[in-house]
This record gives sequence, C-alpha cells and structure tokens, in this order.
Amino acid sequence: MTNQQIRLAKRPSGMLADDDFALTEEAVPALSDGQFLIQNEFVSLDPAMRGWMNEGTTYIRGVELGAVMRAFAVGKVIQSNHPDFTIGQYVSGLTGVQTHAVSNGAGIEKIRSQDVPPSWYLGVLGMPGMTAYFGLLDKGALQDGETVFVSGAAGMIGTLVGQIAKIKGCRVVGSAGSDEKCAYLVNEIGFDAAINYNTESLPDALKTHCPTGIDVFFDNVGGPTLDAGLANLARGARVVICGAISQYNASDMYGPKNYMKIVSARGSMTGIIVFDFLAEYPEAVRQLSEWLKAGKIKYREHVETGIERFPHVLRMLYTGENFGKLVLKL
Ligand SMILES: NC(=O)c1ccc[n+]([C@@H]2O[C@H](COP(=O)([O-])OP(=O)(O)OC[C@H]3O[C@@H](n4cnc5c(N)ncnc54)[C@H](OP(=O)(O)O)[C@@H]3O)[C@@H](O)[C@H]2O)c1
Repeated sequence: MTNQQIRLAKRPSGMLADDDFALTEEAVPALSDGQFLIQNEFVSLDPAMRGWMNEGTTYIRGVELGAVMRAFAVGKVIQSNHPDFTIGQYVSGLTGVQTHAVSNGAGIEKIRSQDVPPSWYLGVLGMPGMTAYFGLLDKGALQDGETVFVSGAAGMIGTLVGQIAKIKGCRVVGSAGSDEKCAYLVNEIGFDAAINYNTESLPDALKTHCPTGIDVFFDNVGGPTLDAGLANLARGARVVICGAISQYNASDMYGPKNYMKIVSARGSMTGIIVFDFLAEYPEAVRQLSEWLKAGKIKYREHVETGIERFPHVLRMLYTGENFGKLVLKL
C-alpha cells in the first residue's frame, strides 16, 4: 500500500508557491503493537498553515523542512493493532497532508456521532468551530443584544461567529470580499448587514451599520480592517484578535494605527488561541450540534479534490477563492 504525502520543500517568502511543497510517495509501514492505520479522507485547509511554514516557534513549532505538512484531517481506521481503535472507526487529528497515517492514538479523537458527515469535524464541530464559539462567548464576553462586527465574515469562523451572535439576539455586521458573499450573509444566514470591503469604504459603512458603535469586534483579518473596526468601537467594547489573514503572506506587517480608540472607549483587546480551551471542547460540540440540528446554524463546506492540488487549494484561503469551510478530499 502506498502513502502519498505533501512535504514542506522550502520556506515561502511572501505568497506561498507551488514549489514550496513536494508530493512524495512511500510504502505504508507494517504496524507495531499498539498502532493503527488511518486512511485520511479529508484534509482541512486552515489559514494558520501559512504561519506553520515559517521557521521558529510561535504558539506552535514551525514544520521542519522535508516533513509532512501539518494539517488536521479526518479518516477511517483500516488496520489496527490497538485495543481501543477498531477498523471502520472515523477519527480526526493532526495527521498531516497524507493519504495514510500510522498512529498510536496520541492526539486522535474518535468521531462518535453519525448525525453529520465526518468532514464537519474539521470545521463547525472541529478546531475552527471551537475558535468561533470560545472566541465570541468567552474572550468576547458577548452579552445579549449587543452589536457585533466580524471581519472575514463569509469564511468558516466568520459565518459561525455571526450566527451564534444572532442566536444571542445581537445586531450582526460582517465584512467580506465580494457581493456574492455579502448577499449570502444577509439573505441566507441572517446577518443584519454585510460590507464588501473591496467596493465600499469600511470605516464609513461601519458608521452607517453600527450607529451605536461596535460592542464586540471579532477580527479575522487584521491590517486596515482592524483599524476600521477600532475607529468605530462603542464604550466598553471588546476586541477579539482571532487572526490577521491579510498579513500572513506580507513581508512587512501592518500595525494598527487606531489603537488609542481602546483608551477612549474604555475597551479591551485580547487574543485567542483555541487550544487553550481543549478541556471545554465537548460542551461546545454539544451546543453547536444542538443548534445545527435545530436549524439555527447553517454550515457551508467548500470541497476541493486531489492531494496533488494541495498548494493551489491552500492558496485559495489567501485570495478569497474559498466560500465556506475549505477542505481537500483525498
Ligand atoms: N486564534 C486561533 O486560535 C485561530 C484558530 C483558527 C483560525 N484562526 C484565524 O481565523 C481566521 C479565519 O479562519 P477561517 O478558517 O475561518 O478561514 P476562512 O475565513 O474560511 O478563509 C479565509 C478568508 O479570509 C479572507 N481573506 C483572505 N485574504 C484577505 C485579505 N487580504 N483581506 C481580507 N480578507 C481576506 C477571504 O475572504 P474574502 O473573500 O471575504 O476576502 C477568505 O475566504 C484566520 O485569520 C485564522 O488564522 C485563529
């Protein structure tokens, strides 16, 4: 049996390129006692993967040159010498961009529910879903009826943040990169307003759509988007820095200019690292599953196919070509 793998071939400079990665093949090794073999079916594309390609350590170590690219994946156990993982069991974990992974169970979660497709455990019921949930409700300390602005609103985390805020009776405004995405946010998932940052002035539009100011600003984008949100904070606002996707491929990082607005608004700005909430994931999965079942949350996946297309598909996150949670079907 052959394992196809995407390995990190070189460290990117600026926007990642196809030849930053190499497609390799090797035989799947025989299992030792206590090991099992996973056939990966879907790999998750997450914006943070661009940061993992850099040298050094931030909240997690950069991927070593020549190593299989780190990624969350879901797959099925197809061979097992492990008492707790039986053949046919769906699992998820950081098993990398490869068709097969040998594991001893460390860091591997069993997918027990068959109510939703296994790939949803890479998105709404996986790491990104947990980020939206805890970022908004814990770090953002959202109160019923507040005004929420979420950037990157049509993406995986943005759509979920907006929908949770609507469940909590909030006014929700989002920014996204196309009219099609903005129409989806307002007409299909219930945002109060959506701003196309490519055709509208974000600072002006925020004044219009958040007349009493922004109480919770959930920022996925950074750069000038962060500044536009800061300029429109309400008194006591909480700014949750979830990510800064506009800056991940930039050689010169844009720093915020409007940060003194935190002072005049008596606000706060805080970062989230989702892994800090690991112990609380089950409660969030339970609540999100309940909302999905009740039709209170809609979930959109963007599925691409073919391991050899991985570099192009990953790049889609940074060009805005994805519309929904981006996954690669192997
Ligand atoms: N802190 C944590 O623990 C944690 C965990 C997971 C993810 N995150 C962060 O959460 C954010 C969202 O992740 P996601 O998985 O939900 O991805 P996503 O939103 O599904 O995909 C990325 C989207 O970002 C937008 N984008 C790309 N380049 C942009 C630019 N230059 N300016 C403005 N928007 C741009 C694009 O949408 P448009 O077409 O609208 O531009 C694109 O579709 C990322 O910043 C990620 O790093 C943080």
